[in-house]
Amino acid sequence: MYQIYPRSFSDIDGDGIGDLPGITARLGHLVELGVDAVWLSPFYPSPQADAGYDVADYRDVDPIFGRLADADELIAQAHARGLRVIVDLVPNHTSSAHPWFVEALAAPAGSPARARYVFRDGRGTDGAEPPNTWRSVFGGPAWTRVPDPDGRPGQWYLHLFDVGQPDLNWDLPEVRAEFEDVLRFWLDRGVDGFRVDVAHGLVKQADLADWHYPEEPLSGGGSEGVRPPMWDQDGVHEIYRDWRRLLDSYPGERILVAEAWVQPAERLAAYVRPDEMHQAFNFEYLLAAWTAPAQYAVITRSLAATDAVGAPTTWVLSNHDVVRHASRLGLPPGTPKPNGIGAGDPQPDAAVGLRRARAATLLMLALPGSAYLYQGEELGLPEHTTMDDDARQDPTWKRSGGAERGRDGCRVPIPWEADAPSYGFGPTDASWLPQPALWAEYALDRQREVAGATYEMYRAALMLRREHGLGRGTLSWVDTADDVLAFRNGDLLVVTNFGADPVGLPAGTQPLLSSGPLDSDGGVPTDVTVWARA
Ligand code: NOJ
Repeated sequence: MYQIYPRSFSDIDGDGIGDLPGITARLGHLVELGVDAVWLSPFYPSPQADAGYDVADYRDVDPIFGRLADADELIAQAHARGLRVIVDLVPNHTSSAHPWFVEALAAPAGSPARARYVFRDGRGTDGAEPPNTWRSVFGGPAWTRVPDPDGRPGQWYLHLFDVGQPDLNWDLPEVRAEFEDVLRFWLDRGVDGFRVDVAHGLVKQADLADWHYPEEPLSGGGSEGVRPPMWDQDGVHEIYRDWRRLLDSYPGERILVAEAWVQPAERLAAYVRPDEMHQAFNFEYLLAAWTAPAQYAVITRSLAATDAVGAPTTWVLSNHDVVRHASRLGLPPGTPKPNGIGAGDPQPDAAVGLRRARAATLLMLALPGSAYLYQGEELGLPEHTTMDDDARQDPTWKRSGGAERGRDGCRVPIPWEADAPSYGFGPTDASWLPQPALWAEYALDRQREVAGATYEMYRAALMLRREHGLGRGTLSWVDTADDVLAFRNGDLLVVTNFGADPVGLPAGTQPLLSSGPLDSDGGVPTDVTVWARA
C-alpha cells in the first residue's frame, strides 16, 4: 500500500500544491514501482487548518486539488492499471467551517445543533475555565470558548486537535447515520476502502474525566496502565462493526484500515477482529529501536496479536506524521521519536540514516502481512531538517509555542526530475513548503535504471515480494542473536546485521537482493539486510 499525500505528490496546475490530476498523470510510476494499492490523504473541501484533516464537506473535492470528476477519473484510471484506491475518512472531527459547526455556533446551548459536537459549560467563575484538563494533541488546551448567539461569553467546545477541528459527538445517532452515508457516497464512486483517521478517538469516556498524567498524546496506552478518557474507549468497536456490515454489503473487496495509536498490540488487535476493520497501522513497529532485540520483540508481538484475531499484521516505517525513516534512523540510538527537526536541533547522520533505512525497508518488505509505504521513501528521501521556521505550516508549531517543530519536514513536495523547476513536482518553481537544495540527487530520474539506487532496490524488493508470496507467507526465526536477525519466509532466508562485525551467510545460500554491497567474501556488513534463496 502506497500513501499519497496529495499536497506534495504532483502539481499539474503549477500553484505549488499537488492535485488529483497530478496524481492521475503519475500513476505509471506506481505501477512501475510495483505497489498494489494507494491510500490518498484527504482532498476534501477544507480551510486546510490541518492540511486537509479538517473537512468542511465530506462529499466533494477542494478546488485546490481539483473537482469531483477528477476523483472519479483518478479512481477509474487506477483501477484500469490494476491499482486499488483507499481514501481517508476523518470521522473524529469536522472542520470548524463545516455547515454543522457553523449552525452549532449560531444555535443556543442545549440545542440539537450543538448536540452534534461536544459543547460544555466552563468551570470556575462565570464558566471562564475549560470544562476539564484535556490538552490538544497539537499543544494548548483541548477546549475553546465561543460566544453565545447574543454575543456574551458562552460554552466551550472540545477539539482534541486544532481549534479548527471540533470533535463530533458519536453518541448521537444522527452523526452515525451521516458517516454511513459518507461511506456509501465513496463506495458508490468505486473506492476500495477507507483509512480511518484517529479511529481510537471517536468515543470519549462519558464523564469526560480530568486527565492529569503526562502522556504521549496520540498513544492509547496512557500512563501507569490507566487508559486516557479520550482514547481507545470500548464503545468505538460498535461503530466499526456497523461499518463492516455496510462494506460487506458492497460487491468486491472493500477494506477499513485503522489509524489508531493504541498500545499494547492486543488492544490494537481488537480493531481488526473478524467483524471489524481489516487492518490497523502498526505504530509500535514504526517506533521500535533499530536493534536486533527490539525488532525481534516487536515483530513477534505484532504477529502473535494479529494471529490471535485472524487478521494480517501491518508494517510501516514512514508517513506524513513522523520524521522520515531515512533521517530518524540517522539520529543517535536511543533518541526519543522527534516531532520534527529544525536547523538548531542535532542533525541526523544522512549516510547512516539512509543505510539503516534501506536495511529496515528490506527487513519490512520480507515480513508477512501488509506493508505501507509513504511517497518519497522509494527515493530514500530524507526529512527536511533545516526548514526555515517561517515556512512551517503544521499547527503544532504555533500551538506548542515553538516547542515542537511539527511535521512539515516529512511533507515537502517530492522530487521527480533533478534539473526541472521544483524538481519536477510541478511546472513552476512554486512549492507550498520549500524543497531542500540537495534534493536533486534523490530525484526519480537520477535513480531509474541506476544499479544500487534506492528506487531500484524498492522495485526489486516489491517484485520479489510478489513472486515469492511474502505478504501471505509465514515467518520462522532462524537466528535471534544480539546483533543479528535471521528468518525464513517461504523459500527466502532474510538476514539483517545490526552489529559491527560482518556476518557470514550459510553455505549454499544464494543472495538475491541486499540493501547495501556485501563484503568481498560474501559477508553481510553492518546495517545491511540481505534476501537469499535458502
Ligand atoms: C492523524 C492524521 O494522520 C494527522 O495528520 C492529523 O493531524 C490528525 N489525525 C488529526 O486529524
